[in-house]
Amino acid sequence: MARAIRGGIGLAGIGCLFLAAAGPALYYAVDTSRRGCCKLKKLTDAPPSEAATNPDKVAWEIFTQINQRAEGANCLDLDLPSDGRTAGLPVNQTSREVCWQRWADAGAQGVYADPDREPEWPTSQREMTELRPSKENLELARARVSPISLDSAGVPSPSGEIFGLEADVEVESRMNRATLDYIRCQGLWNKDGQVAALGEINARRREEIQFPYGATEVKAGWRKLCDGDGRNCQAKEAYYWRLQRSQDSSRQEVWGLVALHVMSKVLPNWLWATWEHKDNPEIYKVRRYRHDVFGYANGDGPSMSLRELFGKTGFGVGSAWWNYRLIGTQVNTVRSTGEATYLGNSILEQPVIDSSSCMTCHTRVAVNGKGVYLPINRRSSPGNSAGESYNGSPDPLWFLDQSSTTSFRFAWLPLDYVTSLRNAKWKSGARN
Ligand code: HEC
Repeated sequence: MARAIRGGIGLAGIGCLFLAAAGPALYYAVDTSRRGCCKLKKLTDAPPSEAATNPDKVAWEIFTQINQRAEGANCLDLDLPSDGRTAGLPVNQTSREVCWQRWADAGAQGVYADPDREPEWPTSQREMTELRPSKENLELARARVSPISLDSAGVPSPSGEIFGLEADVEVESRMNRATLDYIRCQGLWNKDGQVAALGEINARRREEIQFPYGATEVKAGWRKLCDGDGRNCQAKEAYYWRLQRSQDSSRQEVWGLVALHVMSKVLPNWLWATWEHKDNPEIYKVRRYRHDVFGYANGDGPSMSLRELFGKTGFGVGSAWWNYRLIGTQVNTVRSTGEATYLGNSILEQPVIDSSSCMTCHTRVAVNGKGVYLPINRRSSPGNSAGESYNGSPDPLWFLDQSSTTSFRFAWLPLDYVTSLRNAKWKSGARN
């Protein structure tokens, strides 16, 4: 499926790197010339999407598409040499990477690093491959310091050490090209641009923030499996893994992918999906969220449909990708009955696992006229520092300017669920 159509459409006129889209994720080309900025050119009509009626299936299709090895024409929005090799890097480092690892870094050190300069789609090998753990959002990080993982003296408890939740898990976030180009063209990579958008939207001079069809972001959790270069690391065979320099950069370490979040704009409010490695020690905590009618409908054996999809997309028997489980998908904050829906990942939402709703929490990505972001977590009770996820329907009063009696105005502008926009900074000069 992900490989069905390959670069078959002539794009000469629009100076653009996007190729034809296959799979659910990419149907737009972005005109990358300065003059053409902001024009999203539609390449093909999207086939009727099953995202609304069969989100688990579409989630797995996206999974097989973004986890293709980053080489040749495998990755829809990347232009790669056909053997995956790039000067200067040993083969084993480049060829092991998958498409999303080459996307733009959504953390504070990536797309938002320089508020004075338009972000660019990464082209240097170093930029693309370096694992730069996103500076964990402070609120989440604080919520994470729970009595379970720290003893009274603030020292990681033995259970924390076994799983190494604090020290041995790192998180990175990445965005595909349609996402980056929208942020760039709408001028949302710094706070000045976001605050300006609020003013213009309130003045009805601009459309609300709405990423284009095909925009996709991932958040990945990695866990250290072994010290050393991997030769004696049995554990790695069960994981999609990578080598990384130790913190003091004195040696190599083997890190395995343990958690993967995907949000993809194949639906107006995105399709939300999360995977975990089947051996994650706390996966039992997400039992009540588990729902996968496509891949593992009957317990632990992969369905015929998943076998077929994996076969078609090149994930062979014995590939470590068989060890990842779709915990579930979310396409609405509530069921048709009004009952809240929940979804979370035992690693990435560990501090809020019992109340987690991807969509509701992410709706709270909003900025006000002073460039302040709406707090994301909810306190579980007054005086309790541990956070909780908002869930169920968002409340319009979170966003509206209630002092405005004449017209509908935002006090907090919703940023279309894209948390990474909260990494934006003021331009240097006047403001800060
Ligand atoms: C309690 C709030 C909360 C919940 C619940 C939550 N997220 Fe997030 N998410 C965040 C925050 C804050 C960030 C940015 C900081 C970070 O990366 O830790 C983020 C980052 C992300 C990113 C990286 C892209 C970006 O723009 O930052 C993705 C993708 C993502 N989340 C998907 C999901 C999915 C899928 C779920 C549900 C399975 C989910 N999130 C549940 C708060 C939440």
